[in-house]
Amino acid sequence: MATQTPKRLRHLTSINDLRIDEIEALFALADRYLDELSDPHIPYRIGRSLTEAQGSLLATLFYEPSTRTRLSFETAMIRLGGKSISSADPATSSAAKGESLADTVRVASNYADVLVIRHPRDGAARFAADYASVPVINGGDGAHEHPTQTLCDLFTLRRENKDLNRLNVAVSGDLKGSRTIHSFVYALARFGAEITLMPAGGMDLPEHVYWRLKHDYQHTPTRPSDVADPEVDAVYVTADQPHQLALIAEAGAVVDESSKKKSRAKRAIDAVYVTRFQKERWANKDQDYPTVDANFLKGKEFSHTSVMHPLPRVGELDVAFDSDPRAVYFRQAAYGVPIRMALIAGLLELSNAHALETFEAGFRPAQYVLYDQPNGVGDRCVNANCIVHDPLDGKYARNKFHLIEADRPRLRCHYCENDVTHFFVAHRKHKTYAPAASGLHVSKTQANTVFFNDAKSAEDAGYTLQPPRHAPRA
Ligand code: NCD
Repeated sequence: MATQTPKRLRHLTSINDLRIDEIEALFALADRYLDELSDPHIPYRIGRSLTEAQGSLLATLFYEPSTRTRLSFETAMIRLGGKSISSADPATSSAAKGESLADTVRVASNYADVLVIRHPRDGAARFAADYASVPVINGGDGAHEHPTQTLCDLFTLRRENKDLNRLNVAVSGDLKGSRTIHSFVYALARFGAEITLMPAGGMDLPEHVYWRLKHDYQHTPTRPSDVADPEVDAVYVTADQPHQLALIAEAGAVVDESSKKKSRAKRAIDAVYVTRFQKERWANKDQDYPTVDANFLKGKEFSHTSVMHPLPRVGELDVAFDSDPRAVYFRQAAYGVPIRMALIAGLLELSNAHALETFEAGFRPAQYVLYDQPNGVGDRCVNANCIVHDPLDGKYARNKFHLIEADRPRLRCHYCENDVTHFFVAHRKHKTYAPAASGLHVSKTQANTVFFNDAKSAEDAGYTLQPPRHAPRA
């Protein structure tokens, strides 16, 4: 049998796998599909099909409920002229017999030409990409990311004639558990938007997402507490007081004229992004949650605001608002088809996709050096919901971390992208370890570097504490 060079694969596991020019190229192709194929009566609905993907197959492997993501991916493939197969219920697939995602992906790669995966574990998509021999698209992995939802979100704002390069967006609700928010804020920051955070009580952005916005993408979001008004003491949007966003704008009027915060607070808000309380990701499922309605949006700064929601909504967005011209959430869901058509066309290199000349194979180069430790060497990611802690898949997962040499060093899990800020670095040959915060003692040879979460696990693995390099003078 002739040997073949394996093709360099392109996956989409995080919105940050795409460069800005690639995102724009996808939008241009999605525009073309809408121009050429839209329903004459409903301009944002794709109503006709092509044949360019004839003979190609898409597989959706969904381990969590879905309506829009799965159906719009399948619709997109069929509209391109291809076909779609689906494993939508883990109870009726081999997952119920205990098959790992790694094995399922290896098998499904031999059936379909592109895989879309939704999974409850953070980092599952990137993990799956390690085992797939065809492109993997993340259809939502735990609380990590939902990059194709972000493509729909940005595409919607663009179709609403909003300038993506100078957006002012407020994101509200469960900012901790919503993967849609995490992908969205990364993209907004990279496009240069202003972001106001309106978390429900105790549901703020995770620290690692916030850190990344600030340090990797040079963006500091505004919080209600940033506004210097002694009258405004609430930081969160609460069920009792859901109208804090209006307070921000009012508060803007009383802060120092020269304050940059004021200009941010007073600028018209291009979009308010509402999210559902992600109950399935919280132990306490009985928490207060605010509702967004016309009253919430009565201020002048909201007169041209696009009100967005990834859907499903379960009470946090008033149905009476649906007839308001600012409600864009059903269009946002409809745009899932052209944008996912463009993505599939790009990944499969279909003929229509030469618009995507810049759509190169491979992940975007990682910003930070990757340390890849075999299973059993060093400690695992500290995020309990990371795919590496899955009883089945954990057996396959390697300990992969990006080392970020900031003022205070951090380890970023390659799969779920949670950061560890307190860790120990050990030298495999010297058999010594030291706290990372005391200065990194990373070996030049990556294979000699081992990371531990605490001193005890380093000691248990046979390492001894390295004496300080410069002993204090007597
Ligand atoms: C979102 C998801 O699954 O994260 N749904 C979707 O794909 N449109 C949002 C949600 O479930 O709240």
